[in-house]
Amino acid sequence: MTSSVFGIGLAGCGTVGTGVIRALKRNGELIRERTGGTMTLEVMRVLVRDSQKTRDDMVDIGLLTTDWQSLVDDSAVKIVIELIGGTDLAFDIVARSLTLGKPVITGNKALLAERGPELFALSKLHNTPIHFEAAVAGGIPIIKTVQEAFVGNRMLALCGIINGTSNYILQRMSEAGLEFSTALAEAQALGYAEADPSLDVNGWDAAHKAILLATLAYGFPISPSQMNVVGIEQVKPLDIDFAKQLGYVVKLLAVIREHDNGAIELRLQPSFVSKSHILASVNGVFNAVAVHGDGVGEALFYGRGAGQDPTASAVIADLVEAARTLAKGQTHRGFLPWRENGRIMPIEETSTAYYVRFDVTDRPGVIAEIARVLAEHRIGISGTHSPVNPENPDAAFVDMVFLLHSCPYGLLQKALKEIAALACVNSYPVVFRIEQL
Ligand code: NAP
Ligand code: HSE
Repeated sequence: MTSSVFGIGLAGCGTVGTGVIRALKRNGELIRERTGGTMTLEVMRVLVRDSQKTRDDMVDIGLLTTDWQSLVDDSAVKIVIELIGGTDLAFDIVARSLTLGKPVITGNKALLAERGPELFALSKLHNTPIHFEAAVAGGIPIIKTVQEAFVGNRMLALCGIINGTSNYILQRMSEAGLEFSTALAEAQALGYAEADPSLDVNGWDAAHKAILLATLAYGFPISPSQMNVVGIEQVKPLDIDFAKQLGYVVKLLAVIREHDNGAIELRLQPSFVSKSHILASVNGVFNAVAVHGDGVGEALFYGRGAGQDPTASAVIADLVEAARTLAKGQTHRGFLPWRENGRIMPIEETSTAYYVRFDVTDRPGVIAEIARVLAEHRIGISGTHSPVNPENPDAAFVDMVFLLHSCPYGLLQKALKEIAALACVNSYPVVFRIEQL
């Protein structure tokens, strides 16, 4: 049987791009055998920003180019892999490739969440797929799971930890007592963080992934403006300590859930998760997505959510699928939205219990003042707490925590606005959801 060579144009040779080159060198022969000896995947060109940079030994520097159009237009390039990140040049590369009928593989969740509708429309127009397994949860095959394995299920909910960097930071702060900035620097050195790490920290990287999962699960385009996003910037070691004392761990959690009226709850925030729940033990760079389908019931997907090799593993899976499809002379549609009229639930209508931290001036009556406003809004209190120094029980406290019973988020925000205006409250309260999963 003759083996076909599939020429690859690799745009981006950073953490993930280099991982793809290494994986093809390491397992290229295995892939060929697994595809019946028919498939040789060969990188023809590699796009970089700086061709003088020192690269991994496995990278053939003779293939480097800084001219993206020559890579995409090269007739030897049959499949394009976009791993440069960002939403501008990456868009041009993907759009041009689709226009030329070249299947695209990307790990760029920002691009697809921000500009997916334009690109999926081009994909449809040119009958050329975009594959994006690497865009959500690194090495975990969650895209194929939702699109293919669970195609026969109505999706009731998907909840999960889908940013490795923030999960790594929270764990290092919790277990090693590291400062936020030190933990972030470690995540960057390990290749987990985005080129702009503020996306990991402010929640938007995970939010982009949640948008993709919700789009796949519910079939209508969702704009980032419809998503409520809170990052981990406001998580302090004392929140992690309080959580521990109360039997919880703090996780940056994506929640996607269909309600009985058809509205989709979609949010991303630091949440208190009960220590006994399986998501509480997902640590470090690991991600997990709990999927609830009406047929399959609950299923959990767990694995490394970032880093060179796990992400390259997802890219290679897409690459083989794209090459197989080309080899059969078929076109694969990739993802196409199938529903026009989906509705995202306004964040004000979503309800959970809450942990709220107030920065207060300690004086008699401060707790009563806060409790009064909560009572006026009919928000129930399940507990209060402030750290007491056993060496000096008379020391003034600064942080005062209230645990609140479930209420709509909009109602809570109204009460907090009033509380923030009290003279004894020094800044806007910090809120974490207490999830019932
Ligand atoms: P990275 O390490 O920053 O690498 C980016 C690569 O793209 C570099 O080779 C860079 O060139 C090249 N590049 C950037 N801008 C360019 C431009 N304007 N023109 C030409 N080349 C350009 O990024 P990464 O971590 O590999 O991530 C790549 C993509 O995968 C992103 O979309 C990211 O969100 C996604 N992703 C990353 C991970 C992860 O764990 N890192 C996991 C899943 C998905 P130079 O080498 O010359 O600088
Ligand atoms: N920066 C991302 C993360 C990479 O930490 O999860 C994987 O998408």
